[in-house]
Amino acid sequence: MFARRIAVVGAGYVGLTTAACLASLGHHVVCADIDAAKVDRLRAGEVGILEPGLHDLVAEGTAAGRLQFCVGAGAAVARPDLPPVEVLFLCVPTPMGAGGGADLAAVEAVAAEVRHLLPAGCVVVTKSTVPVGTAEATRKLLRRRDVAVVSNPEFLREGSAVHDFLNPDRIVVGSDQQDAAERVAALYARLGAPTVLTDAASAEMVKYAANAFLAIKLSYVNALAELCDVLGADVADVTEGMGHDRRIGSAFLSPGPGWGGSCLPKDTRALVQVAAAVGVDVPLVSAGIAANERQRDLMVAKIGEAVGTLDGARIGLLGLTFKAGTDDLRDSPALAVARLLSDAGAELTGYDPGCPAAVPGSTDDVHVVDDPMRAAKDADALVVLTEWPEFRQLDWTALGGVVGRRIVVDTRNLLDPDVVRRAGFSWIGVGRR
Ligand code: UGA
Repeated sequence: MFARRIAVVGAGYVGLTTAACLASLGHHVVCADIDAAKVDRLRAGEVGILEPGLHDLVAEGTAAGRLQFCVGAGAAVARPDLPPVEVLFLCVPTPMGAGGGADLAAVEAVAAEVRHLLPAGCVVVTKSTVPVGTAEATRKLLRRRDVAVVSNPEFLREGSAVHDFLNPDRIVVGSDQQDAAERVAALYARLGAPTVLTDAASAEMVKYAANAFLAIKLSYVNALAELCDVLGADVADVTEGMGHDRRIGSAFLSPGPGWGGSCLPKDTRALVQVAAAVGVDVPLVSAGIAANERQRDLMVAKIGEAVGTLDGARIGLLGLTFKAGTDDLRDSPALAVARLLSDAGAELTGYDPGCPAAVPGSTDDVHVVDDPMRAAKDADALVVLTEWPEFRQLDWTALGGVVGRRIVVDTRNLLDPDVVRRAGFSWIGVGRR
């Protein structure tokens, strides 16, 4: 394999994972960030992101001399001590701007900084989720005929980003310059993943298409769970029966309080907006988003029904993050449900293994505690909102001793109903008999 000299600009969640994993594949990577304090911490081996395996990969890469950190994109490119940079990954934020296009301010700043420093023949790769047309816009910003731009979207899940990077279902690389796309695809050759080589616009589209599909799949499952509740069917058996069909697949079929996080909500909204901007209606995606909003109301109604009245009810929340295995509260369905419960007059105490203390602005509706027993104290109901496996191992007999009423609403169908019922709780799931 050819070890390449790579610059990664942006040491956020995507950039740092990309840099550390590419270094682990044998490439020589310099990862840049504008935040000097963050660079200092990374040089000291402090990763600062809860992502299994990332800390070790950063340490290994640094010790082997294959991974370095520096302040500023220019410093990652212009390195007299290293061979000329061959591939530059842009992993800077590209938030949605007005009208569905990406806000390219960060890309513009990097382009301005590196455009005179990039050697001829270098490939610039856009990695972040970006609206269709961003690779083309980046090419125009660079104003360099001898530098190719390639779109190479990432499909990393938070909490398993390193695993997903090193065990990809597929690699997608798009460019209007095929040789450049092939060079980027070759960086991942060791992973042996199916590779889709296409044009830049199609590669950009894949990311939105995949995330919206996953979101719609979940909204559909949540609708099935609601129907099962009414019809007396069991959604666990229904999804198992569906999942064996290889055209459907068994993954991403667990109902919950709605889908959230920093990707699915943003990407579905962006897809609708991007489509509207070019006069195309995507009602299926819009319906998936609307169903997701409604799912939170449904969960609140279920909790209200369980306790009688929400006004003045004391509710203990188990889980605040948008999914298990992260400390990420962004667009968390758990917090959306908490907000609605609080609006209805409930008093909320919450516990989350990934978020042991209150986060101003995020958990304002919840008194955050660092122990599930404290969340359960005098509660009229316990509500499971995030699928942390450790909630299954809780001592339900001990919890039963401190709660006000033994009611648990399990919006993730996470707990073993028999265990919880043996401790004297009434267990209410979603779509379960
Ligand atoms: C998602 C995609 O899964 C990744 O492929 C993609 O790369 C990433 O977005 C991105 O665009 O960067 P992530 O946001 O980390 O990854 O989270 P997911 O694991 O997809 O979960 C999203 C939401 O769906 C969470 O709230 C989760 O709890 C919920 N979910 C997931 C369910 O309610 N049920 C399920 O069966 C699965």
